[in-house]
Amino acid sequence: MRSVPISDTITPQGVQPAEGAAWGKVILLGEHAVVYGRTAVAAAIDRQVCVRLTPRQGSARVAPLEDAPGIAPSLTGGAESDPRLLRALARAADLFRVSLEDVEINITSDLPSSVGLGSSAALSVSLVRALAKWTGNSLEDDVVCSHALDIERIFHGFPSGIDNTVATYGGLVAFRRGQGTRWLTAPRPLPLVIVLGRSSRDTGSVVSSLRERWTAAPDRYEVLFDIIGHIAASGERAISTGDIETLGSLMFQDHAVLRRLGVSTEELDQLVELARRNGALGAKLTGGGGGGAVICLCEKGRTELIEAFCRGGSTAFSADVGAAARVSRCGSATGTQAGLHGQ
Ligand code: PMV
Repeated sequence: MRSVPISDTITPQGVQPAEGAAWGKVILLGEHAVVYGRTAVAAAIDRQVCVRLTPRQGSARVAPLEDAPGIAPSLTGGAESDPRLLRALARAADLFRVSLEDVEINITSDLPSSVGLGSSAALSVSLVRALAKWTGNSLEDDVVCSHALDIERIFHGFPSGIDNTVATYGGLVAFRRGQGTRWLTAPRPLPLVIVLGRSSRDTGSVVSSLRERWTAAPDRYEVLFDIIGHIAASGERAISTGDIETLGSLMFQDHAVLRRLGVSTEELDQLVELARRNGALGAKLTGGGGGGAVICLCEKGRTELIEAFCRGGSTAFSADVGAAARVSRCGSATGTQAGLHGQ
């Protein structure tokens, strides 16, 4: 990891409030296999986490999330309800060699958390950005991304690096661990519906229980990871040529393999089937699985699909992803992606 150029003396007293923000994401193809070195394709969504640091006398306080519809209790209760958040803050403070004793930390978000949309990576990136500003350091995005991965390990144990990459840069990427990131451009935005399952879940435990199964039967799982890697590579080509019918079919195939990995649930399978019956070109779980969100690719009938999900008691919303090749910094988004939270 590259070292951060920290100024010699850090005296946050009297400094201006500092903010950092970062994108949420969807994995279009390739989750889980990406942890084992295969390619995955992911895109930023127009939802962000924002961290704001303000000077405070007395001990550090993590204020509850504001304006955060659909945010899971793991974050809404602040540090008290999720010990990982406190450890993440401590790790971030350590990286910047700064004390958070006299800092009030406000986390705001319109990104649902604990559903596979990359909220912990977005939190990690926004925390790094806010602390960089707070300490008067100007960090390149690759340093932000690398520090965020370090913090993300507290939430996920063994992250592939795809979430913090998309949270940092935005855009649409093909990512392979250790081999860098290819930036993709879709000829037109990919029209998605994102539907949230009701069961709570935790990516870290889904990833670690898959690791146990893999350790017990590596050959069986390596074959499945290879299949997912091929699906993702085909998806990358389909995206680049604007062939969204093929992309949709690959999403259904990917979901079927994710089921064989044991990371889907009955509820997620039902949501995928509901999408298929309502004319979606493709649908699959996204992120860690074990609950969480399903993404659906819809050429037509998005409103009707959202209504169908809502009638079934789920929360669903639309998202257009992938038109902007790359966003270099939060707040300077282009294409279909909006700017900094609140703008
Ligand atoms: O559930 P999320 O949004 O954190 O996504 C996890 C994606 C995995 O491939 C399962 C893990 C990883 O680190 O890539």
